[in-house]
Amino acid sequence: MDSKKILQAHKIQLQVSWLIDKVGYDSPLGKSIRFITYLMDGLLVLNAWRDFLVVRQQQIGNKFLAVDQAIIHSSYSGVRKLMQTEPQWRGNDLGIIRIYAPSYLLDNPLSLGTNGAEHTGVRAVLEYALPEPLERTEVIGRLVDQLLFNAAQRGRLHIGEDLPRMIIAILHQLIFQITLSEQEISASLDYTKNLFFASLPEPILKTLLKGKIQPQIEHRQRLIAKYKQSPQWQSYREIGTQYRLNEHQIVNSIFDMIHIAGTAGTSALLGSVIGVLCLEETVRNNVVSEVNSLWNGEVTPNAGAIENSELIGKVILETARLYPPVRFVSQLAPEAGEVEIGGKQCPFQKGTRLLGSVFTANRDQNKYQRPDSFDVTRDNSDILSWNGEGHERACPGRSLSIGLIKMFCFYLFKKYQWNSFSEVKWDMEKVRAVTPNDLVLSGFSQRSV
Ligand code: HEM
Repeated sequence: MDSKKILQAHKIQLQVSWLIDKVGYDSPLGKSIRFITYLMDGLLVLNAWRDFLVVRQQQIGNKFLAVDQAIIHSSYSGVRKLMQTEPQWRGNDLGIIRIYAPSYLLDNPLSLGTNGAEHTGVRAVLEYALPEPLERTEVIGRLVDQLLFNAAQRGRLHIGEDLPRMIIAILHQLIFQITLSEQEISASLDYTKNLFFASLPEPILKTLLKGKIQPQIEHRQRLIAKYKQSPQWQSYREIGTQYRLNEHQIVNSIFDMIHIAGTAGTSALLGSVIGVLCLEETVRNNVVSEVNSLWNGEVTPNAGAIENSELIGKVILETARLYPPVRFVSQLAPEAGEVEIGGKQCPFQKGTRLLGSVFTANRDQNKYQRPDSFDVTRDNSDILSWNGEGHERACPGRSLSIGLIKMFCFYLFKKYQWNSFSEVKWDMEKVRAVTPNDLVLSGFSQRSV
Protein backbone atom coordinates (compact mmCIF):
# COMPACT_ATOMS: atom_id res chain seq x y z
CA MET A 1 0.00 0.00 0.00
CA ASP A 2 1.09 3.52 -0.78
CA SER A 3 2.74 4.85 2.39
CA LYS A 4 1.73 8.41 1.42
CA LYS A 5 -1.92 7.52 1.97
CA ILE A 6 -1.14 6.04 5.37
CA LEU A 7 0.76 9.17 6.44
CA GLN A 8 -1.73 11.58 4.89
CA ALA A 9 -4.52 9.96 6.90
CA HIS A 10 -2.41 10.37 10.03
CA LYS A 11 -2.09 14.11 9.38
CA ILE A 12 -5.88 14.28 9.32
CA GLN A 13 -5.95 12.38 12.63
CA LEU A 14 -3.67 15.00 14.20
CA GLN A 15 -5.82 17.89 12.98
CA VAL A 16 -8.93 16.13 14.20
CA SER A 17 -7.43 15.73 17.69
CA TRP A 18 -7.50 19.53 18.09
CA LEU A 19 -11.01 19.71 16.71
CA ILE A 20 -12.21 17.04 19.13
CA ASP A 21 -10.53 18.97 21.94
CA LYS A 22 -12.83 21.89 21.08
CA VAL A 23 -16.13 20.15 20.32
CA GLY A 24 -15.90 17.45 23.02
CA TYR A 25 -15.05 13.77 22.70
CA ASP A 26 -18.55 12.49 23.40
CA SER A 27 -20.60 15.37 22.02
CA PRO A 28 -22.76 14.34 19.02
CA LEU A 29 -20.37 16.20 16.69
CA GLY A 30 -17.30 14.68 18.38
CA LYS A 31 -18.77 11.19 18.01
CA SER A 32 -19.59 11.72 14.33
CA ILE A 33 -16.12 13.05 13.54
CA ARG A 34 -14.54 10.11 15.31
CA PHE A 35 -16.72 7.68 13.42
CA ILE A 36 -15.52 9.22 10.16
CA THR A 37 -11.86 8.83 11.14
CA TYR A 38 -12.68 5.28 12.29
CA LEU A 39 -13.93 4.44 8.79
CA MET A 40 -11.08 6.34 7.09
CA ASP A 41 -8.31 4.44 8.90
CA GLY A 42 -10.41 1.28 9.15
CA LEU A 43 -10.40 0.90 5.36
CA LEU A 44 -6.62 1.30 5.28
CA VAL A 45 -6.18 -1.28 8.03
CA LEU A 46 -8.57 -3.72 6.34
CA ASN A 47 -6.49 -3.67 3.16
CA ALA A 48 -2.95 -3.41 4.48
CA TRP A 49 -2.77 -3.93 8.21
CA ARG A 50 0.97 -4.58 8.45
CA ASP A 51 1.99 -1.66 6.21
CA PHE A 52 -0.35 0.57 8.17
CA LEU A 53 1.44 -0.28 11.41
CA VAL A 54 4.99 -0.39 10.10
CA VAL A 55 4.77 2.83 8.08
CA ARG A 56 3.27 4.80 10.96
CA GLN A 57 5.74 3.34 13.44
CA GLN A 58 8.77 4.03 11.26
CA GLN A 59 7.72 7.50 10.12
CA ILE A 60 5.98 8.81 13.23
CA GLY A 61 7.32 6.87 16.20
CA ASN A 62 6.28 4.32 18.78
CA LYS A 63 3.04 6.18 19.48
CA PHE A 64 0.64 7.28 16.79
CA LEU A 65 -3.04 7.95 16.27
CA ALA A 66 -5.37 5.59 14.45
CA VAL A 67 -9.02 4.74 13.77
CA ASP A 68 -11.34 6.66 16.14
CA GLN A 69 -8.51 8.84 17.55
CA ALA A 70 -7.08 5.89 19.47
CA ILE A 71 -3.45 6.13 20.53
CA ILE A 72 -1.56 3.06 19.34
CA HIS A 73 1.52 2.02 21.32
CA SER A 74 3.75 -0.12 19.14
CA SER A 75 6.97 -0.88 21.08
CA TYR A 76 7.44 -3.90 23.33
CA SER A 77 7.93 -1.74 26.44
CA GLY A 78 4.95 0.50 25.65
CA VAL A 79 2.60 -2.42 25.04
CA ARG A 80 3.78 -4.30 28.12
CA LYS A 81 3.19 -1.23 30.28
CA LEU A 82 -0.35 -0.90 28.93
CA MET A 83 -1.05 -4.57 29.57
CA GLN A 84 0.14 -4.36 33.16
CA THR A 85 -2.03 -1.36 34.06
CA GLU A 86 -4.33 -2.29 36.96
CA PRO A 87 -7.19 -1.66 37.25
CA GLN A 88 -7.92 -1.14 33.60
CA TRP A 89 -10.88 0.79 32.33
CA ARG A 90 -12.37 -1.02 29.35
CA GLY A 91 -14.92 -0.33 26.65
CA ASN A 92 -16.64 -3.12 24.75
CA ASP A 93 -13.94 -3.27 22.09
CA LEU A 94 -12.38 -6.25 20.44
CA GLY A 95 -8.85 -4.99 19.91
CA ILE A 96 -9.04 -2.34 17.22
CA ILE A 97 -12.69 -3.12 16.49
CA ARG A 98 -15.36 -1.12 18.30
CA ILE A 99 -18.58 -2.95 19.01
CA TYR A 100 -21.16 -0.38 17.88
CA ALA A 101 -23.94 -2.94 17.51
CA PRO A 102 -24.13 -4.94 20.75
CA SER A 103 -27.33 -6.64 19.58
CA TYR A 104 -25.16 -9.00 17.51
CA LEU A 105 -23.84 -10.26 20.87
CA LEU A 106 -27.36 -10.32 22.37
CA ASP A 107 -26.54 -7.14 24.27
CA ASN A 108 -23.99 -8.80 26.52
CA PRO A 109 -20.52 -7.22 26.57
CA LEU A 110 -17.43 -9.27 25.83
CA SER A 111 -15.75 -10.29 29.08
CA LEU A 112 -12.71 -8.22 28.17
CA GLY A 113 -15.01 -5.20 27.86
CA THR A 114 -16.40 -5.46 31.39
CA ASN A 115 -15.06 -3.61 34.43
CA GLY A 116 -14.86 -3.92 38.23
CA ALA A 117 -17.06 -6.48 39.97
CA GLU A 118 -18.67 -7.60 36.72
CA HIS A 119 -15.28 -8.43 35.23
CA THR A 120 -14.21 -10.26 38.41
CA GLY A 121 -17.40 -12.35 38.31
CA VAL A 122 -17.22 -13.18 34.62
CA ARG A 123 -13.59 -14.20 34.96
CA ALA A 124 -14.42 -16.44 37.91
CA VAL A 125 -17.02 -18.27 35.78
CA LEU A 126 -14.72 -18.58 32.78
CA GLU A 127 -11.76 -19.80 34.82
CA TYR A 128 -14.00 -22.37 36.49
CA ALA A 129 -15.37 -23.53 33.14
CA LEU A 130 -11.95 -23.84 31.50
CA PRO A 131 -10.46 -27.31 31.98
CA GLU A 132 -6.88 -27.81 33.11
CA PRO A 133 -5.43 -29.60 30.05
CA LEU A 134 -3.03 -31.80 32.02
CA GLU A 135 -5.96 -33.22 33.98
CA ARG A 136 -7.89 -34.03 30.80
CA THR A 137 -5.23 -35.49 28.52
CA GLU A 138 -7.16 -38.68 27.89
CA VAL A 139 -10.31 -37.00 26.62
CA ILE A 140 -8.36 -34.34 24.70
CA GLY A 141 -6.19 -37.04 23.10
CA ARG A 142 -9.23 -39.04 22.00
CA LEU A 143 -10.97 -35.98 20.55
CA VAL A 144 -7.88 -34.86 18.63
CA ASP A 145 -7.33 -38.36 17.26
CA GLN A 146 -10.96 -38.69 16.16
CA LEU A 147 -10.96 -35.33 14.37
CA LEU A 148 -7.67 -36.02 12.60
CA PHE A 149 -8.98 -39.47 11.66
CA ASN A 150 -11.98 -37.78 9.99
CA ALA A 151 -9.60 -35.51 8.05
CA ALA A 152 -7.61 -38.60 7.01
CA GLN A 153 -10.82 -40.08 5.58
CA ARG A 154 -11.08 -36.98 3.41
CA GLY A 155 -7.39 -37.30 2.49
CA ARG A 156 -6.41 -33.74 3.33
CA LEU A 157 -6.09 -31.24 6.14
CA HIS A 158 -7.01 -27.66 5.26
CA ILE A 159 -5.62 -25.17 7.79
CA GLY A 160 -8.08 -22.30 7.34
CA GLU A 161 -11.17 -24.51 7.00
CA ASP A 162 -10.61 -27.63 9.09
CA LEU A 163 -8.82 -26.36 12.20
CA PRO A 164 -11.51 -23.92 13.42
CA ARG A 165 -14.08 -26.72 13.00
CA MET A 166 -11.94 -29.03 15.10
CA ILE A 167 -11.26 -26.53 17.88
CA ILE A 168 -14.87 -25.45 18.23
CA ALA A 169 -15.94 -29.10 18.47
CA ILE A 170 -13.30 -29.80 21.13
CA LEU A 171 -14.18 -26.75 23.24
CA HIS A 172 -17.88 -27.65 23.26
CA GLN A 173 -17.01 -31.16 24.39
CA LEU A 174 -14.64 -30.00 27.11
CA ILE A 175 -16.76 -27.17 28.47
CA PHE A 176 -20.32 -28.53 28.01
CA GLN A 177 -20.00 -32.19 26.95
CA ILE A 178 -21.98 -31.21 23.85
CA THR A 179 -21.40 -32.80 20.44
CA LEU A 180 -22.16 -30.23 17.77
CA SER A 181 -23.57 -31.34 14.42
CA GLU A 182 -21.68 -30.35 11.25
CA GLN A 183 -24.41 -27.76 10.55
CA GLU A 184 -24.05 -26.27 14.01
CA ILE A 185 -20.29 -26.05 13.57
CA SER A 186 -20.74 -24.25 10.25
CA ALA A 187 -23.24 -21.84 11.81
CA SER A 188 -20.90 -21.13 14.73
CA LEU A 189 -18.03 -20.33 12.38
CA ASP A 190 -20.30 -18.12 10.27
CA TYR A 191 -21.20 -16.30 13.44
CA THR A 192 -17.54 -15.56 14.20
CA LYS A 193 -16.65 -14.69 10.59
CA ASN A 194 -19.41 -12.10 10.55
CA LEU A 195 -18.42 -10.51 13.83
CA PHE A 196 -17.31 -7.38 12.00
CA PHE A 197 -21.02 -6.60 11.48
CA ALA A 198 -21.08 -5.77 15.18
CA SER A 199 -18.78 -2.85 14.49
CA LEU A 200 -21.37 -1.15 12.27
CA PRO A 201 -23.91 1.22 13.84
CA GLU A 202 -26.84 -0.53 15.50
CA PRO A 203 -29.54 1.05 13.25
CA ILE A 204 -27.85 -0.40 10.15
CA LEU A 205 -27.89 -3.85 11.69
CA LYS A 206 -31.51 -3.54 12.70
CA THR A 207 -32.67 -2.41 9.26
CA LEU A 208 -30.47 -2.93 6.19
CA LEU A 209 -28.60 -5.98 7.48
CA LYS A 210 -31.41 -7.57 9.47
CA GLY A 211 -31.97 -10.40 6.96
CA LYS A 212 -28.26 -11.09 6.71
CA ILE A 213 -27.49 -11.35 10.40
CA GLN A 214 -30.73 -12.82 11.73
CA PRO A 215 -29.67 -16.46 11.06
CA GLN A 216 -26.45 -15.92 13.02
CA ILE A 217 -28.26 -14.36 15.95
CA GLU A 218 -30.81 -17.17 15.97
CA HIS A 219 -28.01 -19.73 15.95
CA ARG A 220 -26.51 -18.04 19.00
CA GLN A 221 -29.88 -18.14 20.77
CA ARG A 222 -30.39 -21.82 19.97
CA LEU A 223 -26.91 -22.75 21.10
CA ILE A 224 -27.09 -20.97 24.43
CA ALA A 225 -30.45 -22.68 25.07
CA LYS A 226 -28.58 -25.95 24.49
CA TYR A 227 -25.80 -24.91 26.89
CA LYS A 228 -28.41 -24.57 29.62
CA GLN A 229 -29.42 -28.21 29.14
CA SER A 230 -25.88 -29.48 29.61
CA PRO A 231 -24.74 -31.34 32.75
CA GLN A 232 -22.22 -28.55 33.51
CA TRP A 233 -24.63 -25.64 33.38
CA GLN A 234 -25.83 -25.74 37.00
CA SER A 235 -22.31 -25.40 38.39
CA TYR A 236 -21.45 -22.51 36.05
CA ARG A 237 -24.69 -20.82 37.01
CA GLU A 238 -23.96 -21.25 40.72
CA ILE A 239 -20.51 -19.66 40.44
CA GLY A 240 -21.91 -16.75 38.43
CA THR A 241 -24.76 -16.20 40.87
CA GLN A 242 -22.28 -15.93 43.74
CA TYR A 243 -20.85 -12.92 41.86
CA ARG A 244 -24.31 -11.47 41.23
CA LEU A 245 -24.32 -12.27 37.54
CA ASN A 246 -27.56 -13.26 35.88
CA GLU A 247 -28.05 -16.26 33.57
CA HIS A 248 -27.88 -14.11 30.47
CA GLN A 249 -24.46 -12.74 31.44
CA ILE A 250 -23.11 -16.14 32.38
CA VAL A 251 -24.19 -18.11 29.36
CA ASN A 252 -23.36 -15.38 26.84
CA SER A 253 -19.90 -14.82 28.29
CA ILE A 254 -19.18 -18.52 27.90
CA PHE A 255 -20.48 -18.43 24.31
CA ASP A 256 -18.07 -15.61 23.47
CA MET A 257 -15.19 -17.29 25.25
CA ILE A 258 -15.67 -20.46 23.20
CA HIS A 259 -16.32 -18.77 19.88
CA ILE A 260 -14.15 -15.69 19.83
CA ALA A 261 -11.28 -16.03 22.28
CA GLY A 262 -10.98 -19.81 22.23
CA THR A 263 -11.68 -20.98 18.71
CA ALA A 264 -10.37 -18.05 16.71
CA GLY A 265 -7.16 -17.70 18.78
CA THR A 266 -6.29 -21.37 19.12
CA SER A 267 -7.02 -22.46 15.56
CA ALA A 268 -4.99 -19.54 14.19
CA LEU A 269 -2.02 -20.41 16.39
CA LEU A 270 -2.28 -24.13 15.68
CA GLY A 271 -2.31 -23.37 11.95
CA SER A 272 0.77 -21.18 12.30
CA VAL A 273 2.58 -23.89 14.27
CA ILE A 274 1.82 -26.42 11.52
CA GLY A 275 2.97 -23.88 8.91
CA VAL A 276 6.22 -23.21 10.74
CA LEU A 277 6.91 -26.94 11.14
CA CYS A 278 6.29 -27.49 7.42
CA LEU A 279 8.96 -24.88 6.67
CA GLU A 280 11.57 -25.59 9.39
CA GLU A 281 12.90 -29.05 8.57
CA THR A 282 15.47 -29.34 11.37
CA VAL A 283 13.04 -28.17 14.03
CA ARG A 284 10.44 -30.57 12.64
CA ASN A 285 12.82 -33.52 12.86
CA ASN A 286 13.65 -32.61 16.44
CA VAL A 287 9.94 -32.35 17.26
CA VAL A 288 9.40 -35.84 15.83
CA SER A 289 12.26 -37.15 18.01
CA GLU A 290 10.79 -35.45 21.06
CA VAL A 291 7.36 -36.97 20.44
CA ASN A 292 8.90 -40.44 19.92
CA SER A 293 10.91 -40.18 23.11
CA LEU A 294 7.90 -39.13 25.21
CA TRP A 295 5.14 -41.30 23.76
CA ASN A 296 5.00 -44.85 22.41
CA GLY A 297 1.64 -44.16 20.76
CA GLU A 298 -0.23 -47.00 22.45
CA VAL A 299 -2.71 -45.13 24.63
CA THR A 300 -3.35 -41.37 24.68
CA PRO A 301 -0.32 -39.28 25.75
CA ASN A 302 -0.30 -38.72 29.51
CA ALA A 303 0.14 -35.48 31.43
CA GLY A 304 3.88 -36.10 31.86
CA ALA A 305 4.42 -36.42 28.12
CA ILE A 306 2.53 -33.20 27.40
CA GLU A 307 4.23 -31.33 30.22
CA ASN A 308 7.72 -32.48 29.24
CA SER A 309 7.42 -31.65 25.56
CA GLU A 310 9.73 -28.70 25.94
CA LEU A 311 10.67 -28.24 22.31
CA ILE A 312 7.06 -28.18 21.13
CA GLY A 313 6.37 -25.66 23.90
CA LYS A 314 9.17 -23.45 22.57
CA VAL A 315 7.92 -23.78 19.00
CA ILE A 316 4.45 -22.67 20.14
CA LEU A 317 5.76 -19.60 21.98
CA GLU A 318 8.07 -18.51 19.17
CA THR A 319 5.25 -18.98 16.65
CA ALA A 320 2.92 -16.94 18.87
CA ARG A 321 5.57 -14.20 18.91
CA LEU A 322 5.89 -14.03 15.13
CA TYR A 323 2.22 -14.61 14.32
CA PRO A 324 0.18 -13.41 17.31
CA PRO A 325 -3.47 -14.39 16.81
CA VAL A 326 -4.56 -11.28 18.76
CA ARG A 327 -3.02 -8.23 17.09
CA PHE A 328 -4.33 -5.50 19.40
CA VAL A 329 -5.38 -5.06 23.00
CA SER A 330 -7.47 -2.08 23.98
CA GLN A 331 -8.28 0.00 27.07
CA LEU A 332 -9.60 3.50 27.79
CA ALA A 333 -7.72 6.53 29.12
CA PRO A 334 -9.11 7.33 32.59
CA GLU A 335 -8.19 11.04 32.27
CA ALA A 336 -7.62 13.59 29.53
CA GLY A 337 -4.05 14.65 28.84
CA GLU A 338 -1.43 15.38 26.24
CA VAL A 339 0.72 12.91 24.37
CA GLU A 340 3.77 13.44 22.21
CA ILE A 341 3.14 12.14 18.71
CA GLY A 342 5.84 12.55 16.07
CA GLY A 343 7.64 15.20 18.18
CA LYS A 344 4.52 17.33 18.75
CA GLN A 345 2.19 17.60 21.72
CA CYS A 346 -1.29 16.43 20.94
CA PRO A 347 -4.37 16.55 23.22
CA PHE A 348 -6.36 13.47 24.07
CA GLN A 349 -9.60 13.13 25.98
CA LYS A 350 -10.89 10.98 28.81
CA GLY A 351 -12.16 7.74 27.27
CA THR A 352 -9.68 7.79 24.39
CA ARG A 353 -8.71 4.27 23.44
CA LEU A 354 -5.17 3.20 24.20
CA LEU A 355 -4.30 0.33 21.89
CA GLY A 356 -1.34 -2.01 22.31
CA SER A 357 -0.08 -3.39 19.00
CA VAL A 358 1.05 -6.90 19.89
CA PHE A 359 2.31 -7.63 16.38
CA THR A 360 4.84 -4.77 16.31
CA ALA A 361 5.77 -5.23 19.98
CA ASN A 362 6.64 -8.86 19.25
CA ARG A 363 9.00 -7.77 16.47
CA ASP A 364 10.57 -4.84 18.33
CA GLN A 365 14.31 -4.87 17.60
CA ASN A 366 15.06 -3.22 20.93
CA LYS A 367 13.68 -6.33 22.57
CA TYR A 368 14.44 -9.16 20.14
CA GLN A 369 17.57 -9.79 18.08
CA ARG A 370 16.76 -10.54 14.44
CA PRO A 371 13.10 -10.07 15.36
CA ASP A 372 11.67 -11.32 12.07
CA SER A 373 13.44 -14.70 12.21
CA PHE A 374 12.05 -17.85 13.74
CA ASP A 375 14.47 -18.84 16.51
CA VAL A 376 13.44 -21.67 18.78
CA THR A 377 16.24 -20.94 21.26
CA ARG A 378 14.83 -17.51 22.14
CA ASP A 379 13.78 -16.72 25.71
CA ASN A 380 10.06 -16.12 25.38
CA SER A 381 9.28 -16.21 29.10
CA ASP A 382 7.93 -12.64 28.94
CA ILE A 383 6.00 -12.98 25.68
CA LEU A 384 3.05 -10.62 25.24
CA SER A 385 0.90 -12.69 22.88
CA TRP A 386 -1.48 -13.96 25.61
CA ASN A 387 -1.73 -10.41 26.99
CA GLY A 388 1.31 -10.93 29.23
CA GLU A 389 1.04 -12.77 32.53
CA GLY A 390 0.24 -12.28 36.20
CA HIS A 391 -2.46 -9.60 35.99
CA GLU A 392 -6.25 -9.47 36.00
CA ARG A 393 -6.62 -9.25 32.21
CA ALA A 394 -4.10 -11.90 31.13
CA CYS A 395 -5.60 -14.58 28.87
CA PRO A 396 -7.20 -17.29 31.05
CA GLY A 397 -7.04 -19.78 28.16
CA ARG A 398 -3.27 -19.77 27.80
CA SER A 399 -2.49 -23.19 29.23
CA LEU A 400 -5.49 -24.84 27.55
CA SER A 401 -4.56 -23.44 24.15
CA ILE A 402 -0.95 -24.59 24.55
CA GLY A 403 -2.07 -28.02 25.82
CA LEU A 404 -4.40 -28.48 22.84
CA ILE A 405 -1.74 -27.50 20.32
CA LYS A 406 0.78 -29.83 21.93
CA MET A 407 -1.71 -32.70 21.70
CA PHE A 408 -2.26 -31.97 18.01
CA CYS A 409 1.52 -32.05 17.45
CA PHE A 410 1.79 -35.41 19.23
CA TYR A 411 -0.84 -36.99 16.99
CA LEU A 412 0.17 -35.26 13.77
CA PHE A 413 3.77 -36.42 14.00
CA LYS A 414 3.25 -39.88 15.45
CA LYS A 415 -0.02 -41.17 14.07
CA TYR A 416 -0.60 -39.27 10.84
CA GLN A 417 1.35 -38.36 7.70
CA TRP A 418 0.97 -36.39 4.49
CA ASN A 419 2.62 -36.57 1.06
CA SER A 420 2.95 -32.90 0.30
CA PHE A 421 1.86 -29.47 1.39
CA SER A 422 0.88 -26.34 -0.52
CA GLU A 423 2.57 -22.93 -0.15
CA VAL A 424 2.89 -21.75 3.46
CA LYS A 425 1.95 -18.07 3.42
CA TRP A 426 0.73 -15.68 6.09
CA ASP A 427 -1.50 -12.90 4.76
CA MET A 428 -0.15 -9.65 6.17
CA GLU A 429 -2.50 -7.48 4.11
CA LYS A 430 -6.15 -8.42 4.39
CA VAL A 431 -7.42 -8.67 7.94
CA ARG A 432 -8.00 -12.39 8.35
CA ALA A 433 -6.88 -14.80 11.04
CA VAL A 434 -3.07 -14.57 11.30
CA THR A 435 -2.40 -18.09 10.08
CA PRO A 436 -1.49 -19.72 6.75
CA ASN A 437 -5.19 -19.95 5.86
CA ASP A 438 -4.71 -21.57 2.44
CA LEU A 439 -2.22 -24.23 3.52
CA VAL A 440 -3.35 -27.77 2.67
CA LEU A 441 -1.64 -30.99 3.76
CA SER A 442 -2.40 -33.39 0.88
CA GLY A 443 -2.48 -37.15 1.03
CA PHE A 444 -3.28 -36.80 4.72
CA SER A 445 -3.62 -40.28 6.19
CA GLN A 446 -3.18 -42.43 9.25
CA ARG A 447 0.32 -43.83 9.65
CA SER A 448 0.44 -47.60 9.69
CA VAL A 449 1.91 -48.89 12.94
C1 HEM B 1 -8.64 -22.26 24.67
C2 HEM B 1 -8.27 -21.15 24.10
C3 HEM B 1 -8.51 -19.76 24.68
C4 HEM B 1 -9.48 -19.32 25.51
C5 HEM B 1 -10.62 -20.12 26.12
C6 HEM B 1 -9.24 -17.91 25.75
C7 HEM B 1 -10.02 -17.10 26.57
C8 HEM B 1 -9.81 -15.75 26.76
C9 HEM B 1 -10.69 -14.88 27.50
C10 HEM B 1 -11.99 -15.32 28.16
C11 HEM B 1 -10.16 -13.64 27.50
C12 HEM B 1 -10.74 -12.40 28.19
C13 HEM B 1 -10.12 -12.26 29.55
C14 HEM B 1 -10.75 -11.17 30.38
O1 HEM B 1 -11.86 -10.73 30.10
O2 HEM B 1 -10.12 -10.77 31.36
C15 HEM B 1 -8.94 -13.71 26.76
C16 HEM B 1 -8.13 -12.66 26.54
C17 HEM B 1 -7.03 -12.73 25.72
N1 HEM B 1 -6.54 -13.83 25.07
FE1 HEM B 1 -7.26 -15.69 25.14
N2 HEM B 1 -8.14 -17.53 25.05
C18 HEM B 1 -7.67 -18.63 24.36
C19 HEM B 1 -6.61 -18.68 23.51
C20 HEM B 1 -5.81 -17.61 23.23
C21 HEM B 1 -4.68 -17.64 22.33
C22 HEM B 1 -4.20 -18.86 21.55
C23 HEM B 1 -4.13 -16.39 22.34
C24 HEM B 1 -2.94 -15.88 21.62
C25 HEM B 1 -1.81 -16.55 21.48
C26 HEM B 1 -4.93 -15.56 23.25
C27 HEM B 1 -4.67 -14.24 23.54
C28 HEM B 1 -5.46 -13.44 24.35
C29 HEM B 1 -5.23 -12.02 24.55
C30 HEM B 1 -4.13 -11.17 23.91
C31 HEM B 1 -6.23 -11.57 25.40
C32 HEM B 1 -6.44 -10.15 25.91
C33 HEM B 1 -7.48 -9.46 25.08
C34 HEM B 1 -7.80 -8.10 25.64
O3 HEM B 1 -7.80 -7.93 26.85
O4 HEM B 1 -8.09 -7.21 24.83
N3 HEM B 1 -5.92 -16.33 23.76
N4 HEM B 1 -8.75 -15.02 26.31
